[in-house]
Amino acid sequence: MIRVGFIGTGGFTKHHVEILQEIENVKVVGFVGSSQEKAEHFAEKYYETTGYQNLETMLAHEQLDAVYICVPPMAHENYEEILMEHDIPFLVEKPLGVDENKVRQVRQKVIEKNHLTAVGYHFRYADTVKRFQEMLEEADIGAVMAKWMGSMPGVYWWKNQEQSGGQFNEQTTHLVDLIRFLFGEVKSVYAQESNVVTAKKDASITVADVGLFTLTLENGLLVQISNTSVLPGGTGEVGIKAYTDQGILDWQMGHIESKTPAKSEKYIARQNPYKKENEAFLHAVKTGDRSKILSSYEDGWHSFKIALAAQKSIREKRVVNLSELDA
Ligand SMILES: NC(=O)c1ccc[n+]([C@@H]2O[C@H](COP(=O)([O-])OP(=O)(O)OC[C@H]3O[C@@H](n4cnc5c(N)ncnc54)[C@H](O)[C@@H]3O)[C@@H](O)[C@H]2O)c1
Repeated sequence: MIRVGFIGTGGFTKHHVEILQEIENVKVVGFVGSSQEKAEHFAEKYYETTGYQNLETMLAHEQLDAVYICVPPMAHENYEEILMEHDIPFLVEKPLGVDENKVRQVRQKVIEKNHLTAVGYHFRYADTVKRFQEMLEEADIGAVMAKWMGSMPGVYWWKNQEQSGGQFNEQTTHLVDLIRFLFGEVKSVYAQESNVVTAKKDASITVADVGLFTLTLENGLLVQISNTSVLPGGTGEVGIKAYTDQGILDWQMGHIESKTPAKSEKYIARQNPYKKENEAFLHAVKTGDRSKILSSYEDGWHSFKIALAAQKSIREKRVVNLSELDA
């Protein structure tokens, strides 16, 4: 039996716990919340689990084989470090954080300890992405365009730049990560952002609500990413399009479509990528075989670095080479 603890008691902890309940030989035993009360309230919903005020107390009371870190980007505290000191593998939700120095320190320790980690870039596990990969192998890629056009999530921290790092760090990072996964590593970034709609309505909003990002990949490919959070709920467009010598490959959450002169084909997702992500991590915890994990802390760092480069580009109004962020 793999015994799992959680840090965070919000929407995504709930999501992971529900998936773990479908997986055999896994037992969720405890939750750490931002307060004892919140942790206990959450634990009450799940049979035989306990709420703890802090990670140290959970570690003192539970024998844990793995911990899931599902906190907002500004709230990682020193959770990763404590877990590494106790030799406990962790799955951390994306993005890795908002504080560059902190993420750098964790990354360094993960490398030194060769610690077992996974990062919640679940799209890497999608069967539609696998299909996308296969289609790309048969084509010469010209341009790549990606977009995350949506509305502002309701959680309080998302609209605060210092807490979430903005839409590109918090949300569009999924697409950035997929671009690295499918098309290659990023060499440089030019980014522009503005707030044109939402800040007029709510003065507490400090994130941009529109952004345009040009990525030049090391292999020379040019990638254009746009994002916005101005849309009303229930509308939105999220996806990546590759314009190739064979035609257009159009990936969206839930399907991939190829449009060639001869035919149009649509492949609809058959698997739950979150479940595969969890299974890959738990398999590694159980056996030590990390080969099924498609995003480790080190990999997540390279996606996080692109958000750092974008912020630098916005501040300095110039193209930023990723190599400038190498310490
Ligand atoms: N992979 C995905 O598809 C996906 C989807 C949604 C969210 N997420 C990620 O999951 C993370 C959490 O998002 P969420 O939607 O659950 O947010 P949420 O606001 O619903 O939940 C966050 C929880 O963390 C708790 N928290 C805050 N500060 C804390 C602290 N210092 N210590 C312990 N707990 C603390 C809050 O009380 C809350 O229970 C974010 O990084 C988000 O980007 C990933």
